[in-house]
Amino acid sequence: MIVGLPKEIKDNEYRVGLTPAGVRALADGRHRVLVEQSAGEGSGFEDSLYQKAGGVILNSADEVWAQADMIVKVKEPIAPEYGRMREGQLLFTYLHLAPDRELTKQLLDRKITGIAYETITDRRGSLPLLTPMSEVAGRMAIQVGAHYLEKMSGGRGILLGGVPGVPAARVVIIGGGVVGTNAAKIAVGMGAHVTIIDNNLDRLRELDDIFLSKISTLASSAYMIHDAISEADLIVGAVLVPGAAAPRLVTRTMLKDVPNGAVIVDVAVDQGGCIETTHPTTHSNPTFYVEGVLHYCVANMPGAVPRTSTFALTNATLPFALKLANKGFLEAIRSDPHLREGVNTYAGRCTYEAVAVSQGLDYTPLAQLTQ
Ligand SMILES: NC(=O)c1ccc[n+]([C@@H]2O[C@H](COP(=O)([O-])OP(=O)(O)OC[C@H]3O[C@@H](n4cnc5c(N)ncnc54)[C@H](O)[C@@H]3O)[C@@H](O)[C@H]2O)c1
Repeated sequence: MIVGLPKEIKDNEYRVGLTPAGVRALADGRHRVLVEQSAGEGSGFEDSLYQKAGGVILNSADEVWAQADMIVKVKEPIAPEYGRMREGQLLFTYLHLAPDRELTKQLLDRKITGIAYETITDRRGSLPLLTPMSEVAGRMAIQVGAHYLEKMSGGRGILLGGVPGVPAARVVIIGGGVVGTNAAKIAVGMGAHVTIIDNNLDRLRELDDIFLSKISTLASSAYMIHDAISEADLIVGAVLVPGAAAPRLVTRTMLKDVPNGAVIVDVAVDQGGCIETTHPTTHSNPTFYVEGVLHYCVANMPGAVPRTSTFALTNATLPFALKLANKGFLEAIRSDPHLREGVNTYAGRCTYEAVAVSQGLDYTPLAQLTQ
């Protein structure tokens, strides 16, 4: 198969769809990998590394898209990329089609086989290609929170771990899933007092087993959340209700009782946020205050650490990219039901029910088209 690796062109996107190790694995499988010049620059991979790994460097995105059977990317295509997509081409990337009518139309009109990272499943029914970015964002939440707690950054001037004779900061994490657990690991490691709040008691039991006596767990309720955040220095929003907007668990009224200069990192901002006063911010302008509490609500936190994020993402995506290249699309989806779940568009039809429903399109089960 000819595999194409274009440079990401979305604003402030420095990740790349394949590392040199990924190119090497594909090249070892006798696939030809076409890499757009400087595609990996933002993640610290020079063209020469891709060349050494067996890739061929091409001067322009147009050349890569024109020749490749399968394009491997990170972000969904944006307007300048639409015209480059060719009928029947495989597109393996994050797509997030549900809210994106124009991109969906483009993929259908151009009969692109669109495989979305975010809808590929695993044996437990979770979404393995979303997990790495939640791991990055969860760990970053504490790093970022510790930074903004410093006086010069606008916080209340508290060291997360305290020192002998001075108590450590109180960190309250709302949501004990992937983001919450990774945040807790770093916060515990830095010596903070950590409380995790979740409405899933079994999850709280697991967390209690993982962290032993190093954290406190609380069953989620408005009362307990209000009580916990009233003494918090750092609050991390890490709630997810799959397929729905995040519930607003911390209200503006509750914020009046949070200490001045405390910091909120609402990681769940990409689903609307679990703090009433959240609105999405960017890396260039990441924070704002409400009721004297500093809010950090960057919707694409992993973008700040593109090198780590590229490795983390491609560790999870490469096995699927290899399967697609080695077996071809039809055999690959027949042999792997989890990969099949990723197919959102095929042969001009929408093959992912939730996307079809959200856009009022006809849904066609993939099996009907691939028999
Ligand atoms: N901002 C970013 O850059 C970024 C990056 C990665 C992930 N995220 C977002 O972070 C959020 C969390 O992701 P995740 O992978 O940890 O999800 P997850 O499904 O692993 O965990 C979510 C947790 O929230 C809990 N929960 C649900 N309702 C609750 C309630 N009412 N009270 C308390 N807990 C509740 C669930 O039981 C679950 O344990 C998602 O919105 C995700 O999209 C944002």
